[in-house]
Order: sequence, then C-alpha cells, then structure tokens
Amino acid sequence: MKTIIEPFRIKSVEPLRQTTREERERFLQQAGYNLFLIPARDILIDLLTDSGTSAMSTEQWAAMMRGDESYAGSESFFRMESVVRDLTGFKHVIPTHQGRAAERILFTVLCRKGHVVPNNTHFDTTRANIEFTGARAVDLPTPEAANTQARLDFKGNMDVAALERLIAAEGAANIPLVMLTVTDNSGGGQPVSMQNIAAVKQTASRHGIPLYLDACRFAENAWFIKLREPGFAEWTPKQIAQKMFSFADGCTFSAKKDAFANIGGLLCTHDDRLAIQETNLLILTEGFPTYGGLAGRDLEAIAVGLEEVLDSDYLRYRIVSTGYLGRHIADHGVPIVEPPGGHAIYIDAGRMLPHIPKQQFPAQALAVELYRHAGIRSVEIGSVMFGANAQHELLRLAIPRRVYTQSHIDYVVEAILEVNERRRQIRGLAIESEPPFLRHFSARFRQI
Ligand code: F0G
Repeated sequence: MKTIIEPFRIKSVEPLRQTTREERERFLQQAGYNLFLIPARDILIDLLTDSGTSAMSTEQWAAMMRGDESYAGSESFFRMESVVRDLTGFKHVIPTHQGRAAERILFTVLCRKGHVVPNNTHFDTTRANIEFTGARAVDLPTPEAANTQARLDFKGNMDVAALERLIAAEGAANIPLVMLTVTDNSGGGQPVSMQNIAAVKQTASRHGIPLYLDACRFAENAWFIKLREPGFAEWTPKQIAQKMFSFADGCTFSAKKDAFANIGGLLCTHDDRLAIQETNLLILTEGFPTYGGLAGRDLEAIAVGLEEVLDSDYLRYRIVSTGYLGRHIADHGVPIVEPPGGHAIYIDAGRMLPHIPKQQFPAQALAVELYRHAGIRSVEIGSVMFGANAQHELLRLAIPRRVYTQSHIDYVVEAILEVNERRRQIRGLAIESEPPFLRHFSARFRQI
C-alpha cells in the first residue's frame, strides 16, 4: 500500500469552533493584528507551535494515573530516569519544568561575560539565556542554509570550518560549550547529519570543549538520518538516537516536543561536578531533584512519550505529513524553505510578497491574511521577531503532533493557495506599540 495513514485512531475529541470572516476581522482589530493576542477559542486550526500541543496517547494518560506525587524519591522519577538513561546514556538526568529552565541552569553554571557559545542556530530562548549571563551566542549554520530554495539533505548542519576559526579567534578557554540544535528549528526545522555531529564533537573535544545537544526534536532528526544518510537505513530510530547522544557530553531537552508531553524538560550530563552545581540551582527555583518543577504524572507522560516517539510508523507518518503540506503548497507556487522540515513548514514571505518591504513585515502580513481568510494561526519568524538581525521573512506553520488529520491539512493547503492567488492585494503593517524586548509576543500593528 502506498497510502500512509495516521497511525492512531481517535478516542476523545475537542470540537473546533467556526467563526465568520466578519468576526475574524473584528478579532484582528481587537488584537492589534498580533495573533498571539487572539484567544485560542477564536482559532480554527492552530499552527502557532508544535510545543506542548501534542495529543497524548491512551498509554500516556494511563501512566499519568500511576504518577507518584511524593516530594522526594518519586517512583515516577525513577521510571523516567531509566528511560532517559537507556536512550541517551547520560549519567545525570535532571528534570525541569520546560526546556528553557534547563538552559537557564546550564548557562548559569557554565557561562560568564567574555564567553562565546556556538550553535548551528540558537533558538530564541537559548540565545536569550546565554546573553543573560553576559556571554555571546554565535550561529554557525552551514553556508548553504542561506539559500531557502536549496534542496539539501542536512541543511541543519554546523559549519565545522567556521567553528575551527571561532575557536582559534576566541580561544578554547572562552568557549564553555558547543551546542547543536536537532533539528534546527530557527533554520527551517532542518536535520543535522550523524557525520556532522561526529565532526563537531571531534573538533570540540580536540580543544577540550564539551558538546551539548539541544535535543527537542531528536527523534525527527533520527528519522531524517535513517532516510537520508548512507549506512543508517537498517538502523532503528532508537539506535540512531542513541548514536547521536553518544557523541554528546550533555543535553538540554524540551519534553514539549518529541516526548509528546504538554509540559516538561530535562538537563543531562555525564559530569558529576557539574551535576552537583546544577541540582543546587534546581532546588533554588525548580524543585527537588526527583521532580524539578513537574508533577509525578508529568514525569510519567514523558517516560511513555519518549518510547512512543521512536516508533517507525509514527515517525514515517510524521515526516511524510509535514512534507505533504510543504509539497502541496510549494509545488503550486508558494515559496517555502526547501526541503520541508520535520515539525513545520516555513513560507518564505519575502519571496511570496516582494511588493511588501521588510520594514512592513511581509510574514506578519501573511499571518494576518491567513487568519482572516481561514481562521488559521501561524507565527512570523522574521523582522518582527528578530528586528534587524532577521535573515529571512518567514511564516512558520508548526504542526502539533497527532492532533490534526489529513483533511485539516488539506483545508490549510486550500487556504494558503487561495491567499497566494491574490497575494498582490495583501498590504503591509506598521508597528503601533511595542515592548522593550521580545516584541513579537505583544506588539500591536496597524494596516498600511
Ligand atoms: N530549543 C528549541 C530548539 C526549541 O524549539 C524550544 C522551544 C526550546 C529550546 C525551549 O523549550 O519551550 O520547553 O522552554 N520552542 C517552541 C517553538 C516554543 O515554538 O518552537 P521550552
């Protein structure tokens, strides 16, 4: 059989609420044309993020009933720890309430002013947490990633030669860690090859620098390696993931992505001394080391989710269904970041709407139009989010895991193609008010 189906059936449903175009126009005005400010009840299909928005399985819900809510030494922690150890091999497994809490603890312990942290591309919370310590966050993506239209297998790779140059220029003593984000979220959800992970590790360790994975979407990355990298076709996703982690000295992890959990994160390391410093900080703000800001039931959901996500039927469906959205719009003339990523499709709004200058936020204008036309929420990743640092004007359509069916995605495709038909009528936006930082969450716009 050629048809790839959703490898699950639906036991519990949440109704979607239809709204009229007139209502959506009013909601847009009330929200200052910022989709973060529209209540979720007024959204039909929500592609704002794949984070914390997964549908949990019957096994996850069942496990949650077994959650041990003991303050210290919870059974749920030991179950989660053993799953994470088996997968990653890391000696110390520290739970946190979400990924950015793990980042804050790691960088507080390792970084200070004058330090530099390289990554293929830092996610915005990673960058912000590094900069908060006074250190500098540097992106070293492979140069080919600059061309959104290049169809390469591993566009998430780090530029290893640039890493060498950075270490030579800054001095290894000023680089407390090297990070690799798998998959590369800010770079279009593109995967990193095993060869690149190995090469980055080799370079870092030659200078005595530890390598950390930002491992939110490790399973999607593992599946791309299985599909695209010679030598891995016969490996299971778990074996590939174990191999990826074997190159790392530690990881940060948001369980809100590939662990199918609605909340949760992890900080892992082999280093005993570091783990003591990290758990000391954990106790200060997150909680005791056997729950770290989570309920016992959340730890159970993560433990089950981490095993479910490595199922080949699921990963095949996941990557094919993201590609389905990408191909159906790109092959009908909508420019996307090629090739389709793992968790999201990124429309290159700068290319799609060349009549809107970047000072008038083409990707934000497209987000507004897609909501007005069809009730779909997406997110701008461009000049609103990154200001003058924006490389591209992208609109991200992130796909929550196991939530929407193919007919929902067909609706999204139809809506995007209809909006594309009359793209020349789309007008730009001007900022009316904005906060001093992270302006994309609360800025208000007006139509030009
Ligand atoms: N690293 C990456 C690569 C991420 O994509 C995220 C979150 C984090 C770290 C932080 O994790 O949200 O649990 O604190 N990304 C979400 C997104 C918010 O929409 O891409 P968190």
